[in-house]
Amino acid sequence: MAVSITSLQAEHRESGFGIGVPSPRLSWRYGTTTLQGWQQSSYEIVIDRGGKQERYKVDSDASNLVPWPSAPLASREKVTVKVTSSGADGKSATSPELHLEAGLFDKSDWKANLISGPRQDPDQPKPPFRLRKTFTLSSVPSSSRLYATAHGLYTVEVNGKPVGDNVLAPGWQSYNHHLNYQLYDISDLLVKGENVITAHLGEGWFATRLGKPGVRNLWGDRLGFLGQIEVDGQNVAVTDDSWDVLKSAVVNSEIYNGETVDTTITDDNPTGKAQTLPFPSSKLIASDAPPVRRIKEVKPVELITTPSGKKVIDFGQNLVGWIRIEKDLKGSELVMRHAEVLEDGELGTRPLREAKATTTLKLGGPTKGWEPKFTFYGFRYAEISGVDVHLADYTAIVIASDMKRTGHFESSHSHINQLHKNVVWGMLGNFVSVPTDCPQRDERLGWTGDIQVFAPTANYLFDTSGFLAGWLRDLAAETFAHGGTVPEVVPYVPMHQGKPRPNSIWGDVAIITPWDLYTMFADANILEAQYDSMRAWLTTGFKRQANGLWEPTDKQFGDWLDPKAPPQYPAHGATDLFFSANAYLVYVTRLVASIAEVLGKKADAEKYKQEYEHLKAEFNHEYVSPSGRTVSDTQTALALALHFDLFASESQRKTASDRLDWLVRWESFKVSTGFAGTPIILDTLAENGKLELAYRMLQEKDCPSWLYPVTMGATTIWERWDSMLPNGKINPGQMTSFNHYALGSVAHFLHTVVGGLSPLVPGWKKALIKPQPGGTLTSAKTSFDSPYGLFAVEWTLNGEDLGVKAVVPPNASADVRLPGVEETVGSGEYSWKVKWQRGEWPPQALKGPTRVGMPDEFIP
Ligand code: BGC
Repeated sequence: MAVSITSLQAEHRESGFGIGVPSPRLSWRYGTTTLQGWQQSSYEIVIDRGGKQERYKVDSDASNLVPWPSAPLASREKVTVKVTSSGADGKSATSPELHLEAGLFDKSDWKANLISGPRQDPDQPKPPFRLRKTFTLSSVPSSSRLYATAHGLYTVEVNGKPVGDNVLAPGWQSYNHHLNYQLYDISDLLVKGENVITAHLGEGWFATRLGKPGVRNLWGDRLGFLGQIEVDGQNVAVTDDSWDVLKSAVVNSEIYNGETVDTTITDDNPTGKAQTLPFPSSKLIASDAPPVRRIKEVKPVELITTPSGKKVIDFGQNLVGWIRIEKDLKGSELVMRHAEVLEDGELGTRPLREAKATTTLKLGGPTKGWEPKFTFYGFRYAEISGVDVHLADYTAIVIASDMKRTGHFESSHSHINQLHKNVVWGMLGNFVSVPTDCPQRDERLGWTGDIQVFAPTANYLFDTSGFLAGWLRDLAAETFAHGGTVPEVVPYVPMHQGKPRPNSIWGDVAIITPWDLYTMFADANILEAQYDSMRAWLTTGFKRQANGLWEPTDKQFGDWLDPKAPPQYPAHGATDLFFSANAYLVYVTRLVASIAEVLGKKADAEKYKQEYEHLKAEFNHEYVSPSGRTVSDTQTALALALHFDLFASESQRKTASDRLDWLVRWESFKVSTGFAGTPIILDTLAENGKLELAYRMLQEKDCPSWLYPVTMGATTIWERWDSMLPNGKINPGQMTSFNHYALGSVAHFLHTVVGGLSPLVPGWKKALIKPQPGGTLTSAKTSFDSPYGLFAVEWTLNGEDLGVKAVVPPNASADVRLPGVEETVGSGEYSWKVKWQRGEWPPQALKGPTRVGMPDEFIP
């Protein structure tokens, strides 16, 4: 069988259109092959540059992010790239062609002005409006481009046809630091003679109310559009004060509250001329982050008449996006209210807090094909009033940052499969331009702790490299802007006393998430780009005691949402806030030492290594007894100390892991961890020889557990272990979302331990294949489309007979660890048959005296 290259990409993007760096690194992925052990020994890059061919032959086994071999690209330059790689066996493969087109690298490339309509009331939501320009072309152009961005959100039409397939452009950034622009090929839309470009502007994240009530205009109170049409290299229409201003049929549109539309407004007469605003002061970026797109359509499954007589559509899936209307509806006003759950049979809107999440359409004009433009909702249900409701008239449109799916998991356990599906849906719903906490209530912010704990899962499920690298760029800028303190949310929105409050676990995202990305994609540039912000966080980001540990004065989120914390006080869990803060501090200090090492910063590597050893000793002194008991006697505390390797001796470690074993049984396998402990508890059990305890916890169905929401019909991961109480009532806590990914971080255990697939070296040049069957599972499979190509593992267990199959891509290898098997394999397809000795199953719980909060069936 031959070797093949299935894709060639530049930087972290699928398409080379609008590349944002002059010297883009190239990566190629191989197709699956039965050829065993194929390794690349050289590659040749052929670049077609203005008709001239350049060839670069390199003896190397590198195929991920190899350096651009030619002179840097100029703004707008178009080149075609192809790679042929060869192995020592003489076999070679040639990639598909990659067409690169450079974006605008310099501010001076922009001839356009930022333009707006008349000043709008700064204290009110800003009604959308349109900006229009007519221009004439003497011939049909062969190549036309639109470069565009906005302060606010925009859509564009050229000659009445929509431009591009993205939505909510330009996405959400820390607009005072960075502003993404988009490049569109509009060659097919322009005609000889008169042409019209119309931009539609909404307030979006830029000026809407965000975070605390009353806080709006965080980046400015004037919406603006910046657009530049270039035809065959000439500017033919740039935004300036000759553009007309027009009304919009969208009379109001806010992120939290939704959209109000008057479908009878068809007035295309200008109301005035555009005003020019100062050019954006932020850096204009052609981002590697994929745009937000419509990624899926969901048809309703049921029309419900509620006890109070309302009509509610059930889409059968909690999702993020909006509803498209499929026909011209008759009536005077259509109102659609969105919610994730029903309570007492009625729409459960209390979790939305102040967000109205409502679409209102004044009817009378066309509605067929209508969709909201500048907002989105998190919902499974929509209550519809004002028209006769027929299911066929509505389709849910799912939107998300359009990342490539890379990771999959499936097993013989249907509930665990549903849990995994819920994780994927939870991720999609919260990867809308920024990694958010939730998509529905009056929050929807880039909470740093949430993505910090979820990133290892996210990075496996989808190619997050461009998305997260873009967000981290904002994180670094916000960190510097706040004296080294990593804000709780990025883009920064004032949450507490008007300035960021230092929080471990949340702020530690500055170090952990770049490292997680490096582990998956081996892009040292991301580490380099974030390095100074990591150091800033450790140096000036928070107050320390003389011994280097956290000064225990500020509040912390700690093991947020520990199920033992009262619903209204999610930080009041059982683990000492500063135990978790300092455990993380020791860990991230060690990571910075490793990062400095990768970046070749030898002196820093040594400095942070020493600091790490010192902090570890201080931690041990403060929080660990000589025998290995931890001052917080909780699963989270023990898991942190074990997972981050914070003990001074094997005997301390042994005491701690025995104690964790005891606590897991004492808690009758219910979850008793929050944000700090949940992502690592099962991995830690498995790492410490307690695999069956991990499976037992995973398979628990009573509340709190991962499967409890599944038994309650959840289709996404909930914010709280019991967002919906067993009696069908919504949790009384004011912060109760049904679409939060943090607790879904358990999927990392499914991928790496149950499925048995993880990277052994950064970027997956070498993987570990080590499935560890357990519980009542009889089979599982997982796969990951790595930078080299597809890795896959599949196992079936029949009694003691374990059969394992694996796929390894070309130019990569894997260490295989099974009972009696310790081998390294190169590319190819493999299978093994071994004996699997399971441990204690089912593990026994400890029967203790009645404890507050124990479910009735555990009380003797
Ligand atoms: C968010 C969380 C976040 C937390 C920290 C909540 O409102 O939804 O997920 O991390 O606040 O305070």
